[in-house]
Amino acid sequence: MDELPRREALTVARIVRVNHAGEFGAIRIYSAQILVARYLSPDCVPSLTEMLGHERQHCAAFRAAMPARKSRPCRVMQFWSWGGWLLGFCTALLGRQGIWACTAAVEATVHRHLDDQLHYLLERDRALHAIILSIRKEELAHLHHAEEQLTAPGPLVHLLRSTIAVATDCLIWLSTWGDSVRMARALKAAKLPGTPI
Ligand SMILES: [Fe+2]
Ligand SMILES: [Fe+2]
Repeated sequence: MDELPRREALTVARIVRVNHAGEFGAIRIYSAQILVARYLSPDCVPSLTEMLGHERQHCAAFRAAMPARKSRPCRVMQFWSWGGWLLGFCTALLGRQGIWACTAAVEATVHRHLDDQLHYLLERDRALHAIILSIRKEELAHLHHAEEQLTAPGPLVHLLRSTIAVATDCLIWLSTWGDSVRMARALKAAKLPGTPI
């Protein structure tokens, strides 16, 4: 990592920071959803609990990756924390469709950003690339599980999904100071058919 140009090292540090914050946000979302779902949608609790366990492992993996990359927890952790908790709480109050619309929106946005990061990191930080690749598998499983539960998505589910996706994108942009957008542009420019990730 020392051999990376300063600007690229900074981007790698920002990637770890935003991923750590995002995983922390996910922990808060699922914790709040489990709290409400115990009363309103108990059948969702086992899946949510399993996902919560994954998010805790993801969060710990990014926290452990921070010091070597001169990265520190995000300045806006409180937004991720309380934003995530409120999002989880409110969507769970809407019942099963609210829970899975929220999961689908967040996981789809996260998955897109992880893809951008994998392309960026392939030639810059192999160790972090490997961590993200293994985490992405579980995030994709979360997304698929949520989408399977949304059997007949109505207008409310569509509205929820788009609103939550935009809010998640904004938080990611805020936490990376626009690096996520620059990375997406670089990926688009560099993306060739069959490019390995
Ligand atoms: Fe995660
Ligand atoms: Fe996830």
